[in-house]
Amino acid sequence: MNKALVSFLVFVVGLAVFHNAIFPIFTPKEVGWILNRYVYFLLFVAYLLVTHFTLRLKPPIAMMALFVWGLGFYFYKWVLYPPIPWTLFITYMVMWSIGTFLYVSQDPETFRDFRRPIVKTIVGEYKFAQWVMLIGMPILVGFATYNSIYPSYEEPVELRTVHPAPPATTKVHGKTYPLESTNNPFRIDEQDNYKDSFPFLDAEKEEYMKYVTEGGTIFFQNCHYCHGDQLNGLGMFSHVFNPTPANFIDPGTIAMLQESFLFWRVAKGGPGLPNESTPWSSAMPPWEEHLNTEEIWKVILFEYWYTGWHPRTFGTEGSTAGSGGGE
Ligand code: HEC
Repeated sequence: MNKALVSFLVFVVGLAVFHNAIFPIFTPKEVGWILNRYVYFLLFVAYLLVTHFTLRLKPPIAMMALFVWGLGFYFYKWVLYPPIPWTLFITYMVMWSIGTFLYVSQDPETFRDFRRPIVKTIVGEYKFAQWVMLIGMPILVGFATYNSIYPSYEEPVELRTVHPAPPATTKVHGKTYPLESTNNPFRIDEQDNYKDSFPFLDAEKEEYMKYVTEGGTIFFQNCHYCHGDQLNGLGMFSHVFNPTPANFIDPGTIAMLQESFLFWRVAKGGPGLPNESTPWSSAMPPWEEHLNTEEIWKVILFEYWYTGWHPRTFGTEGSTAGSGGGE
């Protein structure tokens, strides 16, 4: 049998067997000195070398280049852990390709050998290879396109900033609000006497309670599907979203934020998040498209009233909730 073909089979079949049967053994839950993925990779390379030496296979240089390039691709794509972002992957592969190319083009002879099968394929001397190329290439491109636009359920490898730095100002319904100096117009008691007011104790604070009630109505018309009817982020739709809807009871969300931050987040939603919060696509809708400015402020007022948290104000440390949330 043709030695080049044997060499090719040794590589392809070997890779399939190694990847499917041996790789799982080398990636146990508890990684050890022997049982780890890098030892596995060295074993695979050793297998290639040993088979080629003992069978005295001398693949043509173009095929050798393909093997070396393939090994790099395999390493960066499947072996290296944790997975690297694709931009880094592309960078490594470009360098790897340049290295491979330098090797095959080191002198005119190897370079001629390297080009020969490619030229022969193009001019039609290798009819079969030409057909494989003509049919395979469009399929490959089509598959890559399909793959890249097919929605993925995997979590992005990039870390997500849950509370990104807000912009200095935000423009809602044609009006520009400087976030640092904007306050909730419905938080009517300047002295903050309401800050310890927890559900049902506020009956005599009529005006405040009127706004809270209106905010509650807006909440149950729009927000509870995701943020839950107890504001704990466990609404009926919450389970399909990643990131999950914010849990307002949790001390890590609205309790440590300024009301103007919420105003910005509610108005602009997931689409309005800056780059550091992407590519995790937040399902939070941009509510400026459905609610007017007053409704946004009222629903924010309700969220603080219900949970018992007090919004953070500039220059103070976190929240001082009297009742510690509404569980
Ligand atoms: C379709 C589901 C959905 C609906 C409906 C929804 N939200 Fe959200 N919301 C989310 C998700 C998901 C997040 C968390 C991810 C993020 O930070 O964007 C979020 C985050 C937030 C945050 C940010 C909290 C933080 O810690 O930064 C606020 C405030 C908020 N929502 C308020 C509201 C209000 C008010 C409404 C109703 C007017 C509402 N949401 C309706 C899905 C939703």
